[in-house]
Parts: sequence; structure tokens; C-alpha cells
Amino acid sequence: MKFIDEIDLKDKKVLFRFDYNVPLDSTLNITDDIRIRATLPTINYALDEGAKVIIMSHLGRPKGRISPEFSLAPVAKRLSRLLNKEVMLAKDCIGDEVKKLVAGMTPGSVVLLENLRFHTEEEKNDDEFAKELASLGDVYIDDAFGNAHRKHASNVGIIKFIKESGAGFLIKQELNYLKKAVDNPARPFVAIIGGSKVSGKLEALLHLIEKVDKMIIGGGMAFTFLKAQGYEIGKSIFEEELLSKAKEVMETAKKLGIKFYLPVDCVIAEDASADAETKIVPVQEINAKWKGLDIGPATITLFTEVLGNAKTIVWNGPMGMFEIDAFGRGTSALAHSIANSYAVTIVGGGDTDVAIHKAGESDRITYISTGGGASLELLSGKLLPAIEALDGAQRAT
Ligand code: 3PG
Repeated sequence: MKFIDEIDLKDKKVLFRFDYNVPLDSTLNITDDIRIRATLPTINYALDEGAKVIIMSHLGRPKGRISPEFSLAPVAKRLSRLLNKEVMLAKDCIGDEVKKLVAGMTPGSVVLLENLRFHTEEEKNDDEFAKELASLGDVYIDDAFGNAHRKHASNVGIIKFIKESGAGFLIKQELNYLKKAVDNPARPFVAIIGGSKVSGKLEALLHLIEKVDKMIIGGGMAFTFLKAQGYEIGKSIFEEELLSKAKEVMETAKKLGIKFYLPVDCVIAEDASADAETKIVPVQEINAKWKGLDIGPATITLFTEVLGNAKTIVWNGPMGMFEIDAFGRGTSALAHSIANSYAVTIVGGGDTDVAIHKAGESDRITYISTGGGASLELLSGKLLPAIEALDGAQRAT
């Protein structure tokens, strides 16, 4: 794959695809701008090289309808502040007005096109739409890692209609940590997998079990494993249809000599509410009418000890229902243990990113991915359509 610093950008119209799908509150304020900040090295590089910067992104899921709550206007404002220069927001991402705006650009100027998903053609990877987008630039640079698991017009279709394509510095960094570090880790290599369901992470579990030295399972999904081992798990979340898969993962771990860890105690309550009465019990003593909602203190000690000699740690998924403080201590304690370790620490995006921020440890983690779904697919050993398309473009030139 070609990267941005291998392509001549001077005086060129450089069409960028970023993932500016950022969270907004009810008054349309951006509550976390990390995905915007993560693209600054790529944009600044292009500006220094004398490019005209044209940016494409989606925001939310407007499903082909033009809706003000999905406008990229708040992003244009934030980006302008971060770059300390004007960012013109186009009214649309295709059409004559956009063409005129782009034609009038000078080197060093920045235009942000309006939400790609205001057109249904984007998600359909429609060729005509991709061609229209491609006509706006001389060079295409994809740095939308968070969207790389989608096969859309702006990140896959577009490549066959533009002369030169490459990836930005964010994609380079994400692949470096989520692929290189995982495929060729410093050992001992420990994976910590949490979250509510085994089903969402099964492929990642099966892929990682072949690569790690130790695997830690926490969160709601741990109860499917505990149930598979014959424990009474009360009303805790579990997936009946995945009991045999859970057994298979544990058997594979045994066969490969991988150390496999499950919670030894948990925080239980009758229901998952902030004011529910809670108890800490060993996993052998879960009340039949209660449910496990977090890992307990003995588990935190155990998992922290497991991380003690790790040289690479990959963490994806919270240890409990951390959105509610009463069930967030396990996740937060584990975040501290990971941050305190001497390992290269890699954290998946989405929920895990939120958890690490909530614990105040984001500055002490080696790398936090900007992709939720995309990082999980990469950790599952899958090829991401956008990355494949960029690879293909390189082969074609
Ligand atoms: C994400 O936030 O995971 C990406 O921006 C992709 O968004 P999507 O799940 O709506 O396709």
C-alpha cells in the first residue's frame, strides 16, 4: 500500500476520506473529538506540501435523508479551531455548487464536504456516485480507519476512478499497532476480552487464542464460559447457543498450552440499576435470582497479577456494566492495571475507549484505536475492504 508521504501533493486537489463520525450531545456539541484530532498529522502534512485539502466523511446514520442533526457543521467548526484556519463547509458532497467551490480553491485551503450518507448511493458503493466524488480530486487519500470495515463508495468504489490513491498516517498507525504488534508481538502477549456477548467477539477470540500466551475473559460474556464449566450463574446474561463454542475456545487454549483466566468473583444485583443493592460473591455462590454485573476485587487482583510480566497487552471490551458506577469498578481498576504495566498496551476503540477515558488513563496507554468495529475485525484476522482496495490500487499502478 502507498502512503501519503510517497505521493506528490503540491498544488494538487487532494481528496481525503476521514471518519468524523463523532459523538454529539442533544445541542449538537461534540463530546469527544479524538477522531478529528487523529487526522491532524495527515492534514497538516498535506497543507505543508501545498495541497488543496478536500475532506469527505459520514456522520451517524441518516440513511440517505438530508437531516440537520447529521450535518458536519459542528465538525467544520472544531476542525477550523484545531487547524487554526478557515474550513469551508460545502452544502453537499457532489453537484455543481461543490465543483465550483473546489475549482476556486487555492493551495493551503480546506473544504469539508457535507455528510456522504445524505446520499443512499454512498452505502451502496454506487459507481456513479463514486465517480462523481472522484472527479473532485487529483489524488485520493484514505485515513478513515473507523470506517475501513465498510465497503462504501467513498472508501472502496472511488479508488477505481481516481489516478492516484494512498493511505494517511492514521491508517498507517492503526495497522502498525492492531496488525503488526498482534501478528508479531513481544511476549508474553496477553489478550483481555470483555463486553456483554460472546457472539460479538467470537471470531476475535478464535483468532487471538492462536496468537496469545494468556487470555483473560471478563464482562457479561464471562458468564457463558462459567456456565459452560457448570457454574450456577443465576440471571446473568449468557448465550445458550454459544455454550459449545465457549467450551471449544477453552479446549483450544488447553491444547495450545495457553493460560486461560475467568473471573473468580463478581458483583451481583437483582437488577442492573444504579440504586440496586449489590453483593460481592465468589462465582461459586451466585444467587439464582441475581445477576453478575461486574468482576469482583479478587478477580481484579488475579487479572492484575496475570498482567505482571506481560510485554504486549491487547484489551477489547469492558469488565462489567461500567456505564453504571456501581458496576464500573472492575473496568476502571483493570484500566489502571493495564496503564501501570510495562507492556505495549493496545486498546480497541468503541466501548473500551470510553472506559479508558472514564478511568482517566488514556494518556498512559501506548495506543487507543479510533475504530470500534474496524479494530475488532482486524483483531479477528479479517481483511478490511478499504485496506484491500488500497492494496489493490497499489498493485494496479
Ligand atoms: C464507526 O463509528 O464505527 C464508523 O464510523 C462506522 O459507522 P457505521 O457503524 O454507522 O457504519
